[in-house]
Amino acid sequence: MATGNFNRALLVTGGAGFIGSHLVRRLVKHYPDTLVVNLDLLTYAGNLENLRDVENAPNYRFVKGDICDAKQVNALFEQFKFEGVFHLAAESHVDRSISDPMSFVKTNVLGTGVLLNAYRAYRADGGKFYQISTDEVFGSLTDVGFFTETTAYDPRSPYSASKASADHLVRAYHHTYQLPILISNCSNNYGSHQFPEKLIPLMINNIKQEKSLPVYGEGINVRDWLWVDDHVAAIDLIYHQGKTGETYAIGGGNEWRNIDLVHFLCDEVDTQLNRPKGTSRGLVTFVRDRAGHDHRYAIDATKLETELGWKPSVTFEEGLRLTIKWYLENSDWLNHITSGNYQEYYKKHYS
Ligand code: NAD
Ligand code: TYD
Repeated sequence: MATGNFNRALLVTGGAGFIGSHLVRRLVKHYPDTLVVNLDLLTYAGNLENLRDVENAPNYRFVKGDICDAKQVNALFEQFKFEGVFHLAAESHVDRSISDPMSFVKTNVLGTGVLLNAYRAYRADGGKFYQISTDEVFGSLTDVGFFTETTAYDPRSPYSASKASADHLVRAYHHTYQLPILISNCSNNYGSHQFPEKLIPLMINNIKQEKSLPVYGEGINVRDWLWVDDHVAAIDLIYHQGKTGETYAIGGGNEWRNIDLVHFLCDEVDTQLNRPKGTSRGLVTFVRDRAGHDHRYAIDATKLETELGWKPSVTFEEGLRLTIKWYLENSDWLNHITSGNYQEYYKKHYS
């Protein structure tokens, strides 16, 4: 086949996760002649409710499976002869990587190797293997300077080390086997459908429920935040117009100290819930710092902006207001996660 009436087939791994679901939605809607196949194991982070609005689209297929399972992955590649792969499936939370590093080594390193082998054996011409990576592979900045495409790798958490290893494998397959590849390293994303273990959705949920807000250390660590829709727009652009073999740094130019961000979230949730100004700031609780906590991430996205004409579409404040509104209006989505119900969705709707 494998693509039937479609011009091409694209594989998205990890498409039921936060960024993956936004990417799947974009590809399904923007390219109706393309078959978009979403391969996802549905770990705790995978949630098919993220994709309700496209699940019946004729050009979308969901396949439940593990990127580490070479037999299943090879069979899928043989069936669809994918033009390209957008590789997002990963263990993605730094705190979990500190308590359970080996599951990060398995999924993020071994899984990437399995996919590269399959792509090498079965790919269709004209496409690329696109590794979606993180700025965390570059390590930690002091208060000055920025990460660029040429910054030396210096990962410092099991998560970032596993992503760095995967990036190295992808580049090695390009140089050794001439596999057409792309890599992008993006800063912290925020937006709808993010699993509420990450800073922004966790804080919004806790503020809403008037629970304490655990800020690590003194809250002075800096992250550079990007609206998830701007990230997937960049991914689409890079896949279709980027130069094979190249790396692109993606970032919003939005550096915020964690404590300032948490205060902003408190004030904005108070406003949207009509609570008196200042109500929620008192919920902030400084807790023991994360082990090896990287001080600052910041991206210089000049290459992407000048070579491909990309720029973010919203300011951080606008994006955050919309994000808060989404979490407050979609309490069912959040409740299904906290109750564990979201994990029943596959059984109910797919089998
Ligand atoms: P996420 O944790 O929300 O989603 C990960 C998805 O991968 C889930 O749907 C999960 O079920 C799936 N998955 C995990 N193990 C799998 C396996 N063995 N086989 C198949 N599927 C599996 O992650 P996210 O935040 O959406 O991040 C997606 C990608 O983007 C990751 O590779 C991450 O490193 C990268 N990234 C994330 C950010 C960010 O801020 N979230 C920033 C830059 C890069
Ligand atoms: P996180 O969303 O886990 O992303 P990353 O570690 O990949 O940057 O965390 C963002 C920042 O927020 C990071 O500096 C750690 C901090 N943080 C807290 O202070 N409290 C929390 O409960 C969480 C989850 C994160």
